[in-house]
Amino acid sequence: MPETLGESLNFEVRKTDWKQTRFVGGPAPGDLEPGRVLFRVDRFALTANNITYALAGDGLGYWRFFPAEEGWGRIPVMGFADVVRSTHPGVAEGTRCFGFFPMARYLVIEPSRATAEQIVDGAPHRAGLAPVYGQYTPVLGDPLYSAAHEDAHMLMRGLFLTSFLVEDFLCERELFGARAVLISSASSKTSIALAFQVSRSGRAKAVGLTSRRNLDFVKGLGCYDQVLTYDEVKSLPADVPAVFVDMAGNAGVQRAIHEHYRDQLKHSCGVGATHWSAANLAGGADLPGPKPEFFFAPAQIQKRLKDWGPDGFQQRVGDAWRAFRDASAAWLHVVRESGRDALERVYQETLAGRTRPQDGHVLSLWDAPRGGKR
Ligand SMILES: NC(=O)c1ccc[n+]([C@@H]2O[C@H](COP(=O)([O-])OP(=O)(O)OC[C@H]3O[C@@H](n4cnc5c(N)ncnc54)[C@H](OP(=O)(O)O)[C@@H]3O)[C@@H](O)[C@H]2O)c1
Repeated sequence: MPETLGESLNFEVRKTDWKQTRFVGGPAPGDLEPGRVLFRVDRFALTANNITYALAGDGLGYWRFFPAEEGWGRIPVMGFADVVRSTHPGVAEGTRCFGFFPMARYLVIEPSRATAEQIVDGAPHRAGLAPVYGQYTPVLGDPLYSAAHEDAHMLMRGLFLTSFLVEDFLCERELFGARAVLISSASSKTSIALAFQVSRSGRAKAVGLTSRRNLDFVKGLGCYDQVLTYDEVKSLPADVPAVFVDMAGNAGVQRAIHEHYRDQLKHSCGVGATHWSAANLAGGADLPGPKPEFFFAPAQIQKRLKDWGPDGFQQRVGDAWRAFRDASAAWLHVVRESGRDALERVYQETLAGRTRPQDGHVLSLWDAPRGGKR
């Protein structure tokens, strides 16, 4: 007997001013057309990374994943959802999946491919968007899944992969001759993952740059060799060659590093924009030292799939992920909340950069989310 469906609900932000939000409710989803799957979005994670999806909403097409009424956008998040209705022969009701969802109660997809390991949304509005975001992974077909670690999986699995690839990219190039990896927004989960990888491979010092309010937290992590605030960049030894991995995207910080290190900066790569309101829209073309380059994760994935084969790739990423996930239990404080008020509050705090870095916010628009252990 299929479960009774509740009313639908979507969280949306105004595309021109992300502080303005609204909830759009509606009746329970009706009958599905053939070849469709209805997900009940159980829980999802919300971090600064999702804010950069709004920043790149027009440029990189993030608004197109989950279309909304003109002028409004649905920011994508990573989460778990259960198939509650299916008219697709390859997808069974009850299948729990990890993937990219809107902050909503339901999502309908139109699978173009469905195996035990992967369901791919082939909806026409997703054509031309990065394929990786259209993939839904059934938990029973995912060797990296563990019910006891669903929260960490939602919060950091995707971020970790980026950091794994950044570190791998740098190591492949002998760190461009550098002996230190400078990492901005050192308190962010993506940066912590990178510092963890850098310190694990032991080829260079991991140097974290953060804001004053997050300094003690970052120092306490133990994965950075040195931690400084943004206004202390000039105290770094500029004669020791370094590479810069920028998660903050702050034009002032980027300039301070380039002007301090000049030719001793061996590579400068942009990964994030946590300080989105101070972003460098000019791209840093006039800076001394190397021209900043955007890190393109899919290229490194393709390269390593070829070098290591799909199994070798999975094995390496899986081993590294489990080590990071287990180590993060020492600092990650998961905060689970449900309902509109909680989502609105956490969203506004995340947008303004007021969340505590040790907190990992996991949210649901259902009163009683289902999965994972507490
Ligand atoms: N290109 C890619 O493929 C890729 C993949 C994954 C992540 N990323 C990027 O990596 C960055 C980190 O994401 P995350 O989810 O790991 O972040 P997170 O854990 O939520 O990071 C929170 C930290 O970011 C800084 N921050 C956030 N919002 C801010 C604001 N409004 N003003 C000032 N500082 C703010 C603060 O760090 P500090 O005080 O230390 O500055 C804060 O402690 C994001 O920009 C994300 O897009 C990129």
